Amino acid sequence: MTDDAAVRDAIATLRAAGVDSPEYDARALAKHAQATGTDFADLVGKRAQRTPLQHLVGSTGFRYLDLEVGPGVFVPRPETEVLVDAVLAAIKDMTRPLVVDLCAGAGTIGFAVAHERPTAVVHLVERDPRAFEWLQRNAPRDDTDSRVHLHLADAAAALPELDGTVDVVASNPPYVAEHERELVDPEVRDHDPEAALFAGDDGLDVIRVVAATAARLLKPRGLVAIEHSDRQGDAVPQLLKETDHWDEIADHEDLTRRPRFATARRAEAAT
Ligand SMILES: C[S@@+](CC[C@H](N)C(=O)[O-])C[C@H]1O[C@@H](n2cnc3c(N)ncnc32)[C@H](O)[C@@H]1O
Repeated sequence: MTDDAAVRDAIATLRAAGVDSPEYDARALAKHAQATGTDFADLVGKRAQRTPLQHLVGSTGFRYLDLEVGPGVFVPRPETEVLVDAVLAAIKDMTRPLVVDLCAGAGTIGFAVAHERPTAVVHLVERDPRAFEWLQRNAPRDDTDSRVHLHLADAAAALPELDGTVDVVASNPPYVAEHERELVDPEVRDHDPEAALFAGDDGLDVIRVVAATAARLLKPRGLVAIEHSDRQGDAVPQLLKETDHWDEIADHEDLTRRPRFATARRAEAAT
Protein backbone atom coordinates (compact mmCIF):
# COMPACT_ATOMS: atom_id res chain seq x y z
CA MET A 1 0.00 0.00 0.00
CA THR A 2 1.13 3.53 -0.74
CA ASP A 3 -0.07 5.63 2.18
CA ASP A 4 -0.66 9.38 2.28
CA ALA A 5 2.59 10.01 4.15
CA ALA A 6 4.60 8.19 1.47
CA VAL A 7 2.91 10.27 -1.24
CA ARG A 8 3.61 13.50 0.70
CA ASP A 9 7.28 12.50 1.02
CA ALA A 10 7.41 11.68 -2.66
CA ILE A 11 5.98 15.11 -3.57
CA ALA A 12 8.69 16.78 -1.49
CA THR A 13 11.40 14.60 -3.07
CA LEU A 14 10.22 15.35 -6.61
CA ARG A 15 9.86 19.06 -5.90
CA ALA A 16 13.41 19.18 -4.55
CA ALA A 17 14.63 17.41 -7.68
CA GLY A 18 13.13 20.17 -9.86
CA VAL A 19 10.26 18.10 -11.30
CA ASP A 20 7.64 20.45 -12.80
CA SER A 21 4.48 18.75 -11.52
CA PRO A 22 5.46 16.91 -8.30
CA GLU A 23 1.90 16.38 -6.97
CA TYR A 24 0.58 14.95 -10.20
CA ASP A 25 3.63 12.75 -10.75
CA ALA A 26 3.70 11.39 -7.18
CA ARG A 27 0.02 10.42 -7.40
CA ALA A 28 0.44 8.87 -10.85
CA LEU A 29 3.40 6.82 -9.62
CA ALA A 30 1.48 5.72 -6.51
CA LYS A 31 -1.41 4.57 -8.69
CA HIS A 32 0.97 2.72 -11.00
CA ALA A 33 2.82 1.11 -8.08
CA GLN A 34 -0.45 -0.15 -6.60
CA ALA A 35 -1.79 -1.41 -9.93
CA THR A 36 1.38 -3.27 -10.91
CA GLY A 37 3.02 -4.16 -7.61
CA THR A 38 6.08 -2.03 -8.51
CA ASP A 39 8.09 -0.58 -5.63
CA PHE A 40 6.88 3.02 -5.09
CA ALA A 41 10.14 4.29 -3.57
CA ASP A 42 12.07 2.93 -6.54
CA LEU A 43 9.74 4.72 -8.99
CA VAL A 44 10.03 7.98 -7.06
CA GLY A 45 13.83 7.65 -7.02
CA LYS A 46 13.91 7.23 -10.80
CA ARG A 47 11.56 10.15 -11.31
CA ALA A 48 13.77 12.28 -9.04
CA GLN A 49 16.64 11.35 -11.39
CA ARG A 50 14.40 12.86 -14.10
CA THR A 51 13.37 9.68 -15.88
CA PRO A 52 10.15 10.78 -17.65
CA LEU A 53 6.95 9.87 -15.83
CA GLN A 54 5.63 8.35 -19.06
CA HIS A 55 8.58 5.92 -19.26
CA LEU A 56 7.99 4.83 -15.67
CA VAL A 57 4.28 4.14 -16.15
CA GLY A 58 4.87 2.84 -19.71
CA SER A 59 2.30 4.91 -21.57
CA THR A 60 0.81 8.33 -22.12
CA GLY A 61 -2.66 9.61 -22.98
CA PHE A 62 -3.08 11.40 -26.30
CA ARG A 63 -6.61 12.51 -27.20
CA TYR A 64 -8.66 9.27 -26.84
CA LEU A 65 -5.67 6.91 -27.04
CA ASP A 66 -3.24 5.48 -24.55
CA LEU A 67 0.08 5.13 -26.39
CA GLU A 68 2.87 2.89 -25.12
CA VAL A 69 6.21 4.69 -24.78
CA GLY A 70 9.67 4.01 -23.40
CA PRO A 71 13.36 4.27 -24.32
CA GLY A 72 13.78 4.77 -28.07
CA VAL A 73 10.70 6.81 -28.83
CA PHE A 74 9.65 10.44 -28.38
CA VAL A 75 6.97 10.91 -25.71
CA PRO A 76 3.83 12.41 -27.34
CA ARG A 77 3.03 15.90 -26.08
CA PRO A 78 -0.35 17.54 -25.43
CA GLU A 79 0.59 20.45 -27.77
CA THR A 80 0.19 18.10 -30.73
CA GLU A 81 -3.49 17.51 -29.96
CA VAL A 82 -4.53 20.80 -31.60
CA LEU A 83 -2.81 19.82 -34.84
CA VAL A 84 -5.02 16.71 -34.93
CA ASP A 85 -8.08 18.99 -34.72
CA ALA A 86 -6.89 20.77 -37.88
CA VAL A 87 -6.46 17.45 -39.70
CA LEU A 88 -9.92 16.25 -38.66
CA ALA A 89 -11.51 19.54 -39.75
CA ALA A 90 -9.84 19.29 -43.17
CA ILE A 91 -11.19 15.78 -43.84
CA LYS A 92 -14.60 16.09 -42.22
CA ASP A 93 -16.63 16.09 -45.47
CA MET A 94 -14.56 13.42 -47.25
CA THR A 95 -15.86 9.88 -47.61
CA ARG A 96 -12.53 8.03 -47.44
CA PRO A 97 -9.79 10.58 -46.79
CA LEU A 98 -6.15 9.66 -47.41
CA VAL A 99 -3.84 11.00 -44.67
CA VAL A 100 -0.06 10.70 -44.23
CA ASP A 101 1.77 11.22 -40.91
CA LEU A 102 5.47 11.92 -41.56
CA CYS A 103 7.90 11.41 -38.63
CA ALA A 104 5.30 9.35 -36.80
CA GLY A 105 7.17 8.28 -33.63
CA ALA A 106 4.74 6.42 -31.35
CA GLY A 107 1.97 7.00 -33.92
CA THR A 108 0.62 10.07 -32.19
CA ILE A 109 -1.03 11.96 -35.05
CA GLY A 110 -1.76 9.11 -37.42
CA PHE A 111 -3.33 6.74 -34.90
CA ALA A 112 -5.43 9.54 -33.39
CA VAL A 113 -6.79 10.43 -36.85
CA ALA A 114 -7.49 6.77 -37.69
CA HIS A 115 -9.28 6.34 -34.35
CA GLU A 116 -11.41 9.47 -34.59
CA ARG A 117 -12.20 9.13 -38.32
CA PRO A 118 -12.97 5.44 -38.86
CA THR A 119 -13.13 5.77 -42.66
CA ALA A 120 -9.75 7.47 -43.06
CA VAL A 121 -6.87 5.59 -44.67
CA VAL A 122 -3.68 6.55 -42.82
CA HIS A 123 -0.02 5.98 -43.71
CA LEU A 124 2.57 6.55 -40.97
CA VAL A 125 6.25 7.05 -41.85
CA GLU A 126 9.10 6.70 -39.33
CA ARG A 127 12.81 6.44 -40.11
CA ASP A 128 14.27 5.25 -36.81
CA PRO A 129 14.02 1.45 -36.35
CA ARG A 130 13.73 1.72 -32.54
CA ALA A 131 10.88 4.24 -32.76
CA PHE A 132 9.32 2.05 -35.45
CA GLU A 133 9.05 -0.82 -32.93
CA TRP A 134 6.92 1.43 -30.71
CA LEU A 135 4.86 2.43 -33.74
CA GLN A 136 4.15 -1.25 -34.43
CA ARG A 137 3.29 -1.84 -30.78
CA ASN A 138 0.74 1.00 -30.79
CA ALA A 139 -0.89 0.09 -34.10
CA PRO A 140 -4.64 -0.49 -33.75
CA ARG A 141 -5.46 -4.17 -33.17
CA ASP A 142 -8.90 -3.80 -34.74
CA ASP A 143 -7.68 -2.61 -38.15
CA THR A 144 -9.62 -5.35 -39.93
CA ASP A 145 -10.09 -3.43 -43.19
CA SER A 146 -6.38 -2.43 -43.33
CA ARG A 147 -6.81 1.32 -43.14
CA VAL A 148 -3.56 1.86 -41.26
CA HIS A 149 -0.17 1.34 -42.95
CA LEU A 150 3.25 1.64 -41.28
CA HIS A 151 6.42 2.45 -43.24
CA LEU A 152 10.00 2.30 -41.97
CA ALA A 153 11.34 5.00 -44.28
CA ASP A 154 12.90 8.44 -44.57
CA ALA A 155 10.27 11.15 -45.01
CA ALA A 156 12.38 12.56 -47.88
CA ALA A 157 11.71 9.64 -50.22
CA ALA A 158 8.61 8.10 -48.65
CA LEU A 159 5.55 6.80 -50.46
CA PRO A 160 6.27 7.74 -54.12
CA GLU A 161 3.33 5.52 -55.08
CA LEU A 162 1.00 8.08 -53.43
CA ASP A 163 2.35 11.15 -55.24
CA GLY A 164 -0.42 13.65 -56.02
CA THR A 165 -3.16 11.60 -54.30
CA VAL A 166 -3.07 12.51 -50.59
CA ASP A 167 -5.67 14.71 -48.87
CA VAL A 168 -3.65 15.70 -45.77
CA VAL A 169 0.02 15.43 -44.82
CA ALA A 170 0.58 16.03 -41.10
CA SER A 171 3.82 16.02 -39.16
CA ASN A 172 5.35 16.69 -35.80
CA PRO A 173 9.01 16.46 -36.86
CA PRO A 174 12.19 17.22 -34.89
CA TYR A 175 12.55 21.01 -34.69
CA VAL A 176 15.02 21.97 -31.95
CA ALA A 177 17.98 24.04 -33.19
CA GLU A 178 21.48 22.88 -32.23
CA HIS A 179 22.10 26.07 -30.25
CA GLU A 180 18.96 25.43 -28.16
CA ARG A 181 20.36 22.24 -26.60
CA GLU A 182 20.81 23.81 -23.18
CA LEU A 183 17.16 24.96 -23.09
CA VAL A 184 15.95 21.37 -23.14
CA ASP A 185 14.79 19.72 -19.85
CA PRO A 186 16.76 16.69 -18.58
CA GLU A 187 13.79 14.36 -19.21
CA VAL A 188 13.87 15.36 -22.86
CA ARG A 189 17.64 15.67 -23.37
CA ASP A 190 18.48 12.36 -21.71
CA HIS A 191 15.47 10.23 -22.70
CA ASP A 192 13.87 11.39 -25.95
CA PRO A 193 15.97 10.14 -28.89
CA GLU A 194 18.40 12.69 -30.45
CA ALA A 195 16.85 12.07 -33.86
CA ALA A 196 13.45 13.06 -32.50
CA LEU A 197 14.65 16.44 -31.25
CA PHE A 198 17.41 18.15 -33.18
CA ALA A 199 17.19 19.41 -36.75
CA GLY A 200 20.23 21.44 -37.72
CA ASP A 201 21.43 24.96 -37.04
CA ASP A 202 18.00 26.61 -37.30
CA GLY A 203 15.91 23.58 -36.28
CA LEU A 204 14.22 23.61 -39.70
CA ASP A 205 16.16 20.87 -41.54
CA VAL A 206 13.44 18.22 -41.21
CA ILE A 207 10.59 20.71 -41.62
CA ARG A 208 12.09 21.56 -45.04
CA VAL A 209 12.07 17.84 -45.92
CA VAL A 210 8.47 17.47 -44.72
CA ALA A 211 7.33 20.48 -46.78
CA ALA A 212 9.00 19.14 -49.93
CA THR A 213 7.51 15.66 -49.47
CA ALA A 214 4.08 17.11 -48.70
CA ALA A 215 4.23 19.15 -51.93
CA ARG A 216 4.93 15.91 -53.81
CA LEU A 217 2.28 13.76 -52.08
CA LEU A 218 -0.68 16.13 -51.86
CA LYS A 219 -3.40 16.48 -54.44
CA PRO A 220 -4.28 20.05 -55.48
CA ARG A 221 -5.93 21.85 -52.50
CA GLY A 222 -4.63 19.15 -50.13
CA LEU A 223 -3.59 20.37 -46.69
CA VAL A 224 -0.18 20.24 -45.03
CA ALA A 225 -0.01 20.72 -41.23
CA ILE A 226 3.43 20.96 -39.61
CA GLU A 227 4.15 21.39 -35.90
CA HIS A 228 7.00 23.69 -34.91
CA SER A 229 8.49 25.24 -31.79
CA ASP A 230 6.99 28.36 -30.24
CA ARG A 231 9.99 30.27 -31.63
CA GLN A 232 9.30 29.26 -35.25
CA GLY A 233 5.86 30.82 -35.78
CA ASP A 234 7.30 33.20 -38.39
CA ALA A 235 10.06 31.01 -39.81
CA VAL A 236 7.87 28.06 -40.87
CA PRO A 237 5.23 30.10 -42.75
CA GLN A 238 8.14 32.01 -44.33
CA LEU A 239 9.76 28.76 -45.44
CA LEU A 240 6.46 27.70 -47.07
CA LYS A 241 6.25 31.05 -48.88
CA GLU A 242 9.66 30.48 -50.47
CA THR A 243 8.21 28.08 -53.08
CA ASP A 244 5.15 28.40 -55.31
CA HIS A 245 3.74 25.15 -53.88
CA TRP A 246 1.46 26.69 -51.27
CA ASP A 247 -1.63 28.88 -50.87
CA GLU A 248 -3.52 29.90 -47.73
CA ILE A 249 -0.42 29.72 -45.54
CA ALA A 250 -1.38 30.25 -41.89
CA ASP A 251 0.09 29.73 -38.47
CA HIS A 252 -1.85 28.49 -35.42
CA GLU A 253 -1.51 28.61 -31.64
CA ASP A 254 -1.73 25.77 -29.12
CA LEU A 255 -4.00 25.82 -26.06
CA THR A 256 -1.44 27.92 -24.18
CA ARG A 257 -1.64 30.57 -26.96
CA ARG A 258 1.86 29.89 -28.22
CA PRO A 259 2.63 29.55 -31.97
CA ARG A 260 2.55 25.79 -32.60
CA PHE A 261 1.83 24.67 -36.17
CA ALA A 262 1.58 25.94 -39.71
CA THR A 263 -0.90 24.90 -42.39
CA ALA A 264 -1.10 25.50 -46.12
CA ARG A 265 -3.02 24.26 -49.16
CA ARG A 266 -1.28 22.70 -52.15
CA ALA A 267 -1.51 25.26 -54.95
CA GLU A 268 -3.30 23.95 -58.05
CA ALA A 269 -0.94 25.35 -60.67
CA ALA A 270 2.37 24.93 -58.86
CA THR A 271 5.08 22.53 -60.00
C1 LIG B 1 9.47 15.04 -32.43
S1 LIG B 1 9.34 13.31 -32.76
C2 LIG B 1 7.57 13.24 -32.96
C3 LIG B 1 6.98 11.89 -33.04
C4 LIG B 1 5.45 11.92 -33.20
N1 LIG B 1 5.09 12.58 -34.45
C5 LIG B 1 4.81 12.63 -32.04
O1 LIG B 1 4.24 13.71 -32.23
O2 LIG B 1 4.82 12.09 -30.93
C6 LIG B 1 9.97 13.24 -34.42
C7 LIG B 1 10.10 11.84 -35.04
O3 LIG B 1 10.57 11.98 -36.38
C8 LIG B 1 11.47 10.93 -36.69
N2 LIG B 1 12.28 11.38 -37.82
C9 LIG B 1 13.30 12.29 -37.80
N3 LIG B 1 13.75 12.51 -39.05
C10 LIG B 1 12.98 11.74 -39.89
C11 LIG B 1 12.96 11.54 -41.29
N4 LIG B 1 13.81 12.18 -42.11
N5 LIG B 1 12.05 10.68 -41.81
C12 LIG B 1 11.19 10.02 -40.99
N6 LIG B 1 11.17 10.16 -39.64
C13 LIG B 1 12.05 11.02 -39.09
C14 LIG B 1 12.21 10.72 -35.39
O4 LIG B 1 12.82 9.44 -35.36
C15 LIG B 1 11.07 10.88 -34.36
O5 LIG B 1 10.43 9.65 -34.11
